[in-house]
Amino acid sequence: MSDSNRVIIFDTTLRDGEQSPGASMTRDEKLRIAKQLEKMRVDVIEAGFAIASPGDFESVKAIADTIKDSTICSLSRALDADIDRAGEALANANSGRIHTFIATSPIHMEYKLQMSPEKVVEQAVYAVKRARNLIDDVEFSLEDASRSQLDFMCEIIEKVIDAGARTINIPDTVGYAVPEEFGATIAQLIQRIPNADKAIFSVHCHNDLGLAVANSLSAVNAGARQVECTINGLGERAGNASLEEFVMALRTRHDILGLETAVDATQIVPASRLISSVTGFPVQPNKAIVGANAFAHESGIHQDGMLKHPETYEIMTAQSVGWNANKMVLGKHSGRAAFRSRMEELGTSFATDAELNSAFGRFKELADKKHEIFDEDLVALVSDARAIASSEHFKLVSLSVTSQTGETPLAQLTVDVDGTEQQAQAEGSGPVDATFKAIESIADSGSSLQLYSVNAITEGTDSQGEVTVRLENAGRIVNGLGADTDIIIASAKAYIHALNMLATNVEKAHPQV
Ligand code: KIV
Ligand code: ZN
Repeated sequence: MSDSNRVIIFDTTLRDGEQSPGASMTRDEKLRIAKQLEKMRVDVIEAGFAIASPGDFESVKAIADTIKDSTICSLSRALDADIDRAGEALANANSGRIHTFIATSPIHMEYKLQMSPEKVVEQAVYAVKRARNLIDDVEFSLEDASRSQLDFMCEIIEKVIDAGARTINIPDTVGYAVPEEFGATIAQLIQRIPNADKAIFSVHCHNDLGLAVANSLSAVNAGARQVECTINGLGERAGNASLEEFVMALRTRHDILGLETAVDATQIVPASRLISSVTGFPVQPNKAIVGANAFAHESGIHQDGMLKHPETYEIMTAQSVGWNANKMVLGKHSGRAAFRSRMEELGTSFATDAELNSAFGRFKELADKKHEIFDEDLVALVSDARAIASSEHFKLVSLSVTSQTGETPLAQLTVDVDGTEQQAQAEGSGPVDATFKAIESIADSGSSLQLYSVNAITEGTDSQGEVTVRLENAGRIVNGLGADTDIIIASAKAYIHALNMLATNVEKAHPQV
């Protein structure tokens, strides 16, 4: 692979992805995801925004301390404290990068920053120099570049390259660009900036018009050699360019694009499942590459064609993106060693024997209810266990629900609130409604339910149901998760998990506010 044809994949699931409302992740969850991204051979992992909160700092640091094969990056505004905090979090990284940014569009400079263009240039150059004093690998982004003036971008980019920036990122922050125009902007920047050959040009596209992947493809066609993207297209508002779609477009249309990435595509589906299970954001069935229907052929004509020759209707194989890879099945007779080794392959290791024994106990309980345990069950089991372990205030002790034709469903439950058991019962329009009302009669949180979704994790009626409950309270949005073969119990767990998250005070700075 010649270097000039190689596109660097910069994954920002853990940073921009986490900016999706309710998608916040714990340090351990982020570490698990980072290990999967490293296994997938992502070049750069943006692990977070170190100054956002002590928790974010710890996450970036833990990832920088652990991951060896991918470059670990922290975002920072063009401010001293941000840059220094990013440098501190990355101190032990095998390969670390500071990503600093400032807005360059007239509307952002005037109303958000309230800074003159001259001051913005000065601040950008200062920030890049300060970051270069801490680390060799510095990326600079022009926030809202797609609404910035070309001449101004040329000026600031030339100066930050002179100051030591090695990567120049052109974000379509508000998802406003269209492919032809965006590609032309990249081509002009590369052509007009005298020292453009001293840096790699990168793009970071949001999906507000559904064009993030198309814009990224147009940009690499015009000479950009880094693409910032996220698994499942997670990200602020409508999300970012989806990693799986971009990577598979390059691979499938190598004939016309002639570009490559280092990504091991067989790790895409496991990564997608992991992120969906950790964040509680289900993947829509018709989502390209990773949706449940992406390789399903419903019509008779298609099925007939597929049997005669798969390429009649398939432009890539399900196996090539990781469907059915790693489907080693465990069952009730599997031992601790097989369980441990499979979990480690899925990115979860156990710090102590007690942790292993507790997870193994839960696995055995599940195996009693469900004969075959798939990777998806194991991923959900870990997410569910972590949700229960984070139960600071509320714990589900027991739940009984009656539901029969012609009768109003009734839920009776016991919840442990800070060490004291409380009982409640409530009727509802269905068993889930009754359960949530009973929990609320104890918690009295005043939250509003924004989303309730149930997904069958595997096939068959003995599948575990994975439930997401999104609650909003005083402007804060959280996603609670629960998994169980009984979907009413999974729903109660998810509601209680969301309440526990709301009860935990997490003050976080948002990089763009
Ligand atoms: O969308 C955006 O502009 C960003 C930058 C911070 C890179 O996320
Ligand atoms: Zn962004």
